[in-house]
Amino acid sequence: MSLERDLVDVVGADHVLTAPDLRSPYETDWTRRFTGSARAVVRPADAEQLAAVVRACAADGTPVVTQGGNTGLVGGSVPRPDRSAVLLSTRRLDAVGEVDTSAREVVAGAGATVAAVQARAAAAGLAYGVDLASRDTATIGGTVATDAGGLRVVRHGSTRAQVRGLEAVLADGRTVGRLDPPPQDGAGYDLAGLLSGSEGTLAVLTAVRLRLVPRDGPGWVTLVGCTDIDHAVGLLPAAGLRAAEVMLRRGIDLVRRVAGLTEPLQREWPVYVLLETDDEPVLPEGADAAVDERLWAYRERHTEAISTVGVPHKLDVSLPLPALTSFLDDLPGVVQPHEAYVFGHLAMGNLHVNVVGPAPDDETVDEAVLRLAAAYGGSIAAEHGIGVAKARWLTLTRSPAELDVMRRVKAAFDPDGLLNPGVLLV
Ligand code: MLT
Ligand code: ZN
Repeated sequence: MSLERDLVDVVGADHVLTAPDLRSPYETDWTRRFTGSARAVVRPADAEQLAAVVRACAADGTPVVTQGGNTGLVGGSVPRPDRSAVLLSTRRLDAVGEVDTSAREVVAGAGATVAAVQARAAAAGLAYGVDLASRDTATIGGTVATDAGGLRVVRHGSTRAQVRGLEAVLADGRTVGRLDPPPQDGAGYDLAGLLSGSEGTLAVLTAVRLRLVPRDGPGWVTLVGCTDIDHAVGLLPAAGLRAAEVMLRRGIDLVRRVAGLTEPLQREWPVYVLLETDDEPVLPEGADAAVDERLWAYRERHTEAISTVGVPHKLDVSLPLPALTSFLDDLPGVVQPHEAYVFGHLAMGNLHVNVVGPAPDDETVDEAVLRLAAAYGGSIAAEHGIGVAKARWLTLTRSPAELDVMRRVKAAFDPDGLLNPGVLLV
């Protein structure tokens, strides 16, 4: 128990949670599919305390699972069932600094929410280029660690593209990185790039310097009914696109039922595309379409609506755009006897395949969908990360040489394998 005593010395007794009822909100992920048990939940107040927590765990040989807002969807930030790890919550590192309006940048603590950064940027007449439905809870640390995508990737890139600098604590407690990098710094390996998307396996982020973008004007939100996915892809404008989201009939029906929404267009369609554009989109004559900002509800409410039906297996894949039709044609055969709810970020070829029905630990459908995506030249993880959910299948899209070098990078950062074991690389 001396580790617990050391942790109390660092963060105070109120922030070392060992009682099961206090730990439990941190031990199950948002989907309810991934659950485990932590030796303790530790909540440092600042970067110094966080480094001391990591140092104490390293001295004890205890693994550390880092968690931000616990909105992850691949089991990457909840502990394993064996109670071997300390869960390190970054939520108290939630400071957001003053916006540097001339450089268009802001520094945010790892535990600051995406919404807090968006609000700070807006107050300075700017915007943060990442937006996602979990914005009020998802943290900057978590979204950098998973390279989260969201609704604006087509416009501004994923979270990785917003990172100007960062600070992180290594497995042995040393601090690396910088929050005040010069405008250009090509001196050696790109640490910020390497830690973006590393899912807590290489270091623990404490703060990030983020790029901000000009604020968009009012724009147009248009929902268009489509006969099929190629029809939807054909509607993507070449310029001025802010977001392009795809939904299918089955998901629209569910969202309508759960959220009490009316049929959005004059008639029912098998496929819908929601476009947000700078200017009025040019649509073919006779297109069944509606323009209203509130149409975003049909898209944003998919995630919660699906969770009311059961515990979803969430397969976040991406495909080359010409392969979307074949992938969707093959999908029912691959997930049967279950059915999938599919929606996603059309312009990025990113489909969220949600299968409700299989037991949480039955991975048959996961494997089948990921294999299908890989067979069509896609990715098994577009924007949610690998976590524990997909670690077994990284071989589908990463070569033996790539996996070998990734393992060596992991060993260089974390030789004793203490940071988020079981996640990303197995
Ligand atoms: C979304 O696009 O809404 C998120 O990735 C969440 C999800 O896939 O459920
Ligand atoms: Zn998404």
